[in-house]
Amino acid sequence: MTVFIGVVAFKGGVGKTTLTTCLGLGLSTSSRRSVLLVDFDPQANLTEALLTQDNMVDAYRRSESYNLAFSYEALLQGREPLVYPISGVDNLYIIPSHPKYMLWAAQRVLEPTQDKIQLFRGTLGSIAERFNVDYIIVDLPPQMYGIVVPIASVITDYIVSPVIKGAFSIESVEYLIETYYNVARSYTKKPTIFLGAVLMKFSTIETSLIGNVKMAVQKRVKSAFDRLRSLGIIGDVRHGGVFDTVIHYNRILTKLRNMPWTREPYIVRHLHGRFGGERSRRDQKLLVSDINSLAREFEARIREVSGVE
Ligand SMILES: Nc1ncnc2c1ncn2[C@@H]1O[C@H](COP(=O)(O)OP(=O)(O)O)[C@@H](O)[C@H]1O
Ligand SMILES: [Mg+2]
Repeated sequence: MTVFIGVVAFKGGVGKTTLTTCLGLGLSTSSRRSVLLVDFDPQANLTEALLTQDNMVDAYRRSESYNLAFSYEALLQGREPLVYPISGVDNLYIIPSHPKYMLWAAQRVLEPTQDKIQLFRGTLGSIAERFNVDYIIVDLPPQMYGIVVPIASVITDYIVSPVIKGAFSIESVEYLIETYYNVARSYTKKPTIFLGAVLMKFSTIETSLIGNVKMAVQKRVKSAFDRLRSLGIIGDVRHGGVFDTVIHYNRILTKLRNMPWTREPYIVRHLHGRFGGERSRRDQKLLVSDINSLAREFEARIREVSGVE
């Protein structure tokens, strides 16, 4: 069975796309899983980070001939979206986004009716089956773009959220959990489960700050679940809702996108490449260690929550 994951946050620029990328790379390279990433953000940052120039040219051409506002619209109509393998990584695929979707998404607010939910999950599910995919990980836009968040909260089994320093990011976790539980519950009996927050962009020497922020996030998570329980919505979270793994500040991750086109995505080259400089090697070692640790912890949490060994 394919597991559907949503990477969510209300704030932009906190690391949703980076976390999606790290999860996808970690699960496919170190855990040997097959993973399909879905870029549902009209800003198309994940697409930019992971598609090669050839893929992108092909995607633009095919979206024109399709006359669809890209993958998202295709899914809503029960038609197959474009899927590309990520160059240089086995068992990692992406359904790309497109700037045209921005215009389309801004003009529509749609109810996630049962029909649409079925179409969405069904179409994604059949792609997952064909590619033998263990996980579908959806990178979501920060705002409540019409139907995107409602659909996402209904089709995902689990959500994870990046958190950075800064009060807004920490506080918003509470409202994020409540929103997703409420929306999911209003359409299905089964709520989307919050797997936890992942701290992003902390330097390796900020250990006491990391500890403090983890505690602050746990407080917010607890407060959200207390309120959900008082409303009669059952929900709980393990480990206080925060991952032990931190995706530390890393120069490689600052250059996830806006890089010149090459045959392999920048991050893939920097994950496996050989580098002469001491500093580059350190960045690479840190990235590999953070990504592997994230994948391990992520799978352990899913096993624990779902009770599957
Ligand atoms: N661990 C990290 N180290 C360095 N830069 C990071 C890290 N995580 C995110 N960034 C940078 O922060 C910016 C915002 O991240 P992004 O993943 O695009 O956020 P979002 O998808 O939430 O808008 C990007 O420029 C990205 O490269
Ligand atoms: Mg993003």
